Amino acid sequence: MRTACERLQNRPEVRESRRQFLKQCLTGCAVGCVAIAAPGMSVDAFAVRPQHPIVKTNPKRALVIWNSQTGHTRRIGRMIRHVWEKAGLAVTGSDYRKIETATINQYDLIAIGTPVHYANVPVQLQEWIKTLPSIEGASVAAFVTYGGNGNGQHNTACGLLEQMTSIGGAPAGMGLFGNMSTFAPTWSTGNVRRILAFRDRPNEDTYQQARAFAETILDNVAQGRTFTIKREFGLDSLVGMLPQIAITKLMITNHHIDPDLCIRCGTCVGDCPVAVIRLETGSVNTKRCIACMACINNCPTQAMKMNFLGKPVYGFKEFLKRHRIEIIEPPELSA
Ligand SMILES: Cc1cc2nc3c(=O)[nH]c(=O)nc-3n(C[C@H](O)[C@H](O)[C@H](O)COP(=O)(O)O)c2cc1C
Repeated sequence: MRTACERLQNRPEVRESRRQFLKQCLTGCAVGCVAIAAPGMSVDAFAVRPQHPIVKTNPKRALVIWNSQTGHTRRIGRMIRHVWEKAGLAVTGSDYRKIETATINQYDLIAIGTPVHYANVPVQLQEWIKTLPSIEGASVAAFVTYGGNGNGQHNTACGLLEQMTSIGGAPAGMGLFGNMSTFAPTWSTGNVRRILAFRDRPNEDTYQQARAFAETILDNVAQGRTFTIKREFGLDSLVGMLPQIAITKLMITNHHIDPDLCIRCGTCVGDCPVAVIRLETGSVNTKRCIACMACINNCPTQAMKMNFLGKPVYGFKEFLKRHRIEIIEPPELSA
């Protein structure tokens, strides 16, 4: 039976004021952190830098690469590939981890995509880009998928383009694609409504936006129109400066594999971007874990366990199942 205190805590007005309180704390923290960081921080982060011009206005070989944990970004990447192939380009499309990095300078045009994680480009993708050789001469486009109302999606796409242009790419554009969020702690701690508000995303509008984005990039490249990378300054950018992974990890406990549920398929090990899961012992090196939720979101048997603020976390696949949500694929990809 629920106590009077629990009943009071669950009343909508109490939950709302708790949300407001948390938001104010977060904003306060962000402003505080930025104030502390400010002396060493350069306003340069928001300055517009001169960029490499687009030189190959008639691209022949293109590469579409994606970092995707639950499929939202992969789907957009495959759609871009489809449009570019129809336009006559020879296109390679792939998960970034399968790309031979030394071959990346063979392409005239590169699109790179990622989900937003903690208002930023996921750390493992940032690290991967740092290993790439020069791509001078190629044009680059960034596509970013984000959850719900979004948090930091614009600056994440800018960050991705900045990194790709720092190794010689000429920026041709960026696209932001909204989806249902895959941040498992949100629904697992009871905030289901916030996720379900976007249960129809991606939808045909998202797909139309992806097709138009792919066309626009081709057009920008053909016209030699270099895209201006300009970060936005606001609450999102302040929140993006917080050590969000470390803060999130403070709320995570009990992260391990339940041996009774594990079928030893190795999905979690394959999906973990920082190789911290050991099937033999059912353990997770939580010190090195980056709280990306790939293991939780993709485990087919819910054997991967984690508590967030004391509540058991369940993954995206299970969330879709519980709410009978089926993502309708764009027709060109199901053909
Ligand atoms: C660990 C994690 C952190 C996330 N952080 C953000 C965020 O800061 N802002 C946002 O808009 N969406 C965030 N999301 C939602 C994802 O960006 C979004 O659902 C994305 O479309 C997932 O793409 P994927 O299926 O290709 O992995 C986060 C998701 C996860 C799993």
